[in-house]
Amino acid sequence: MSSLTVPVSFGSQERQYAIHIGNGILGQLGIFLETCFTALPKKALIVSDSTVWPLYGVQVEASLEKIGLSVEHLVIPAGETSKTLETATHVYDAALRQGLSRKDVMIALGGGVVGDLTGYCAATYYRGMPFVQIPTTLLAQVDSSVGGKVAVNYQDVKNGIGAFYQPSLVLVDLEVLHTLPRRELLAGLAEIVKYALIEQTALGTETPASETTFFQFFEAHTHDWENHLSTIVARCCNMKAVVVKRDETEQLSQTASGRICLNLGHTFAHAYEALTNYSEFLHGEAVAIGMIQACETSTLMGLIPPEMLVRVKALFEALSLPVRPPRVFPAENLLRLMRKDKKASNSQLTLILPEKTLGTVTLVPNALEDTVRSVLAIH
Ligand SMILES: NC(=O)c1ccc[n+]([C@@H]2O[C@H](COP(=O)([O-])OP(=O)(O)OC[C@H]3O[C@@H](n4cnc5c(N)ncnc54)[C@H](O)[C@@H]3O)[C@@H](O)[C@H]2O)c1
Repeated sequence: MSSLTVPVSFGSQERQYAIHIGNGILGQLGIFLETCFTALPKKALIVSDSTVWPLYGVQVEASLEKIGLSVEHLVIPAGETSKTLETATHVYDAALRQGLSRKDVMIALGGGVVGDLTGYCAATYYRGMPFVQIPTTLLAQVDSSVGGKVAVNYQDVKNGIGAFYQPSLVLVDLEVLHTLPRRELLAGLAEIVKYALIEQTALGTETPASETTFFQFFEAHTHDWENHLSTIVARCCNMKAVVVKRDETEQLSQTASGRICLNLGHTFAHAYEALTNYSEFLHGEAVAIGMIQACETSTLMGLIPPEMLVRVKALFEALSLPVRPPRVFPAENLLRLMRKDKKASNSQLTLILPEKTLGTVTLVPNALEDTVRSVLAIH
């Protein structure tokens, strides 16, 4: 079976790993592992969730056993409530029971919750052991499995405890998306379209001007984008890889060229998610609304022409992505949360906003609250 490979390099010593993307490649995990480890691990602990394990666990386990690994698995309840230190202790317990050493491997088989949790455990178990990401949601395939952010939630702080810790390998099998609920698929699509809105900033000068932009690609494929998933996922992973190489640990906070550009729409999104206690929106849905509001803010500030906002909205609507919140939320409550965003300094609103052309974003410190307030009131 053929697959695309996106290399990810990071850090000053040019450490590197590969993202393999293909259809039906789950059963080839063992072969990919053999190519990425100089000394093959003896044991593997697969961490998965209660929805994903029954669907794909046996196949992954068999592929590892075929190359001689001794394999155990731990299944955690599906959902964000599992991303805790308490669940992490279950992973450590399972690792100790199995006698995992720092030379063995943890495998994350699931969405962003399983990936973030397993990555955090791998980063901390005996001060760090190899781990492999097998992302099974679209969001995890284009976002959370790439770039090395691993974490658990702590008290009411999302991703409050975590690390930057890169996997040894990422295996993206697009066939697993057939079992993903449509709503989850579209939430992942929102993060994908984000890459279309930040493409030039993310890639810097590395794309030739003549190439079709990611935004144009989507405009041409609003009805059949699902037939182009391997190209789409590879393009997103490549963009994230370029950004991560430039700014592995999010140090470039003063310019949109750092990891911060990946945050387009997220200041708005996090406010909606927090205000609804993470129970009403999928992350991608909130991000879609946030990206439109970021475009509306840019339009009011004169950073982009109104025609560009119209074009972005038309694309979102054609892709069945939300363009406005489903009901009115109190602007003051949203603003209070937005002032606490990680980008804000001294409680001043700081936003990533589209500017000039499609695909370019800029960092706006001290964004005018009145402008944002009027955007939040649009319904
Ligand atoms: N590390 C990062 O850079 C980063 C980036 C973005 C998001 N995240 C994190 O990712 C998490 C969200 O990830 P998510 O959206 O993948 O959520 P998730 O892991 O909760 O998965 C969503 C749901 O889909 C189910 N599922 C997964 N794969 C499936 C499949 N193939 N078929 C059927 N059902 C399947 C899961 O069991 C779950 O119920 C959040 O915790 C967020 O903080 C991390």
